[in-house]
Amino acid sequence: MIDRQKLYEGKAKVLFATDDPHVLIQYFKDDATAFNGVKKGAIHDKGVINNRITERLMTILEAVGIPVHFLERISEREQKIRRVDIVPVELVVRNRVAGSMAKRLGREEGEILPRPVVEFYYKSDPLDDPLITLDHIAVFGWASAAEVAWIQQTALRINDVLRGYFASIGIHLVDYKLEFGRLSEDPRKLVLADEISPDTCRLWDMKTGKKLDKDRFRRDLGEVSEAYHEVAFRMGLFTTSS
Ligand code: TMP
Repeated sequence: MIDRQKLYEGKAKVLFATDDPHVLIQYFKDDATAFNGVKKGAIHDKGVINNRITERLMTILEAVGIPVHFLERISEREQKIRRVDIVPVELVVRNRVAGSMAKRLGREEGEILPRPVVEFYYKSDPLDDPLITLDHIAVFGWASAAEVAWIQQTALRINDVLRGYFASIGIHLVDYKLEFGRLSEDPRKLVLADEISPDTCRLWDMKTGKKLDKDRFRRDLGEVSEAYHEVAFRMGLFTTSS
């Protein structure tokens, strides 16, 4: 491997510098954590699969005019991305009740929401990413009103595209997390950043309801790597499902 300067190591990915100050390399690990790092493990081939799935989904979104940080995949586990300053607000878009929404509001997992719901979380490991309101974002200056409006609108466009795409391969897109960043070369421009993968989405098989995402790891359901492979296989990224 070429000697690269490591800029940041997160729970599932590592960021490296390149010769271009505005371009980074995003490396996908097999490491998996849940409950803010309390549960630790590894999912065989996860890095390879999430690199490919993120590449495909980012490319689909870019093709419909959504600006993304993704530039190109350069190896099995690496992709070139545009350097951004991450907005410290994570969005969760939900089409059905699941996970923390089911718990917080005492509702059944699987309930179909009459329209997509967008939630905001403050990106802070020490605070365990607390749920926040639009007023918190404004009052603490995490993003401007114009940025929030754009991010919210873009998240709903992304939902239309991804929900339709996953439906076409027999998968319900239940919910997912998005992050946005300001381009280092022009901070007025926001782009979709991070990754979109079974780590960051809930994906349920339409016929059987089988979970094809990280909940298999979080909840010790078994066949974790197989589920990630199944998603990639249906996306046409690999020729066999395991
Ligand atoms: P939640 O129901 O636990 O709030 O999760 C909502 C969605 O966000 C789910 O698809 C998993 C994803 N997610 C992440 O990508 N990272 C996280 O740290 C958490 C808590 C959830």
